[in-house]
Amino acid sequence: MPPFYVTTPIYYVNDAPHIGHAYCTVNADAIARWHRLAGDDVFFLTGTDEHGLKVAQAATANGLSPQAWTDELAPRFAGAWADLQIANDDFIRTSEARHHRTVQQFLQRIYDNGYIVSDTYRGWYCVGCEQYYAEDELAGDRTCPVHGRPAEWYEEENYFFRLSAFQDRLVEWFESDPGRILPEQKRNEALSFVKGGLQDISITRTSIDWGVPVPWDPRHVFYVWYDALVNYLTAIGYGQDDDRFARWWPAVHHLIGKEIIRFHCVWWPAMCMAAGIDPPNHVQVHGWLLVGGEKMAKSKLNQIAPGDLTVDFGVDPVRYHLLRDTPLGSDGDFSYEGITARYNADLANNLGNLLARVATVVGTKCGGVGPAPDPASRLAAVAAGVVAEASGAWEAMQPAAALEATWRLIRETNAALESAEPWKHAPGPAVDAVLGSALESLRIVALLASPAMPSTCAEIWRRLGLGGLPEDRRVPDDAAWGGYPGGLAVEKGAPLFPRRQE
Ligand code: MSP
Repeated sequence: MPPFYVTTPIYYVNDAPHIGHAYCTVNADAIARWHRLAGDDVFFLTGTDEHGLKVAQAATANGLSPQAWTDELAPRFAGAWADLQIANDDFIRTSEARHHRTVQQFLQRIYDNGYIVSDTYRGWYCVGCEQYYAEDELAGDRTCPVHGRPAEWYEEENYFFRLSAFQDRLVEWFESDPGRILPEQKRNEALSFVKGGLQDISITRTSIDWGVPVPWDPRHVFYVWYDALVNYLTAIGYGQDDDRFARWWPAVHHLIGKEIIRFHCVWWPAMCMAAGIDPPNHVQVHGWLLVGGEKMAKSKLNQIAPGDLTVDFGVDPVRYHLLRDTPLGSDGDFSYEGITARYNADLANNLGNLLARVATVVGTKCGGVGPAPDPASRLAAVAAGVVAEASGAWEAMQPAAALEATWRLIRETNAALESAEPWKHAPGPAVDAVLGSALESLRIVALLASPAMPSTCAEIWRRLGLGGLPEDRRVPDDAAWGGYPGGLAVEKGAPLFPRRQE
């Protein structure tokens, strides 16, 4: 089975998870589930980023030590993902011993290879701001533009990563395969940043001790980003299990938000090169979920918890909305009106209605036993086209397009029923052919939509009288027309998606 390794960013635990985090995690989960369905060997990693100043300050503000605070917050992320039916294979916390060990090994390797050097950081520093300023950022008499008091000349010993040594190799890496960073516009932005010239970067701190100690100089800890990126290696056995590591690396797909492109597309591949391993194969960039046009942020008090939505709409409708309405790469605006409209149109009116009417008519015309599909149905060709298009879109990491294609089969099946009107005709082979084909469409839809809505699709599968679960099947083989055997008891059941007030 070909390996497929997919990751989300690890989330800062300065606050509880919101639907922006859920957006990325649900997309990664659906993509991982698709690849399992396609027969790949999948490893799906998510987790929490627990070091650094931001988290340490959140801990202090809550009267806890950083470790106690992160011990409280990490399970809230893991719990939110369990509630959303996220099927990750591992959950990494950067405060774990396994991660400290890997960070130290990996950065020691870079140090031994001569790409981490000690240097003195010199500059004008404002203690009020805890920040260095360039000369031209200071006001007259070299005063701080914020505090109006004189900046001080500071010199601080620090470790630097020699990013500048990797400019040519990075350009080569970008150009060797245009699909490494997608969408293309994001790739071009990152490439022109690299071509614009790279500065060495300071990668350790002495002002904070909540972090991974630098093995060759424990007065320092690694700056949080240098520790965080390494999580992608920790979870697959870097430095511990060479066979396991070789199985998953570099065949990785990093799914990330657009604000962290430089870390993933410049620093990270350069660090890998410096440590003597291949850079990651693929970075897929996504946009932001906005609320009222703004990015969700703690300071703006506009965060929505995933649980607030699932309580109202159910888990699968929330997953579906996140996947369907904001294609990977674009920004999207979250609103109650938006999720309600999508729910009513696609789930209540299309999918739910199709299942309900087919099950009802099978009840009245076929004694509740589903007939076999018609091999010559017009829907057979529609289904084949939809399976191909949806598969291509999932492969290209475009869940929104995959679902759009899948819903075409639902609409066409509803249209076929409306034109044949089997409810008006006497039972017989013609009615059987129409209903058997509609059941077959539903079976194929349940397969194709299962990465997005696992519970709903399992329920459809069950009501069609099929054994096991859609996720135990394989696409494309099991999605070929004619798989519904007929002769199975079809259950009507309660409406899957009762219509909601808009
Ligand atoms: N800890 C770093 C990542 C380290 S990865 C080695 C970090 N964490 S974060 O919690 O601030 O955000 C991480 C990711 O959460 C974003 O890149 C994005 O995938 C997701 N999102 C956070 N807010 C989001 C939205 N409003 N919309 C969509 N995704 C958002 O950066």
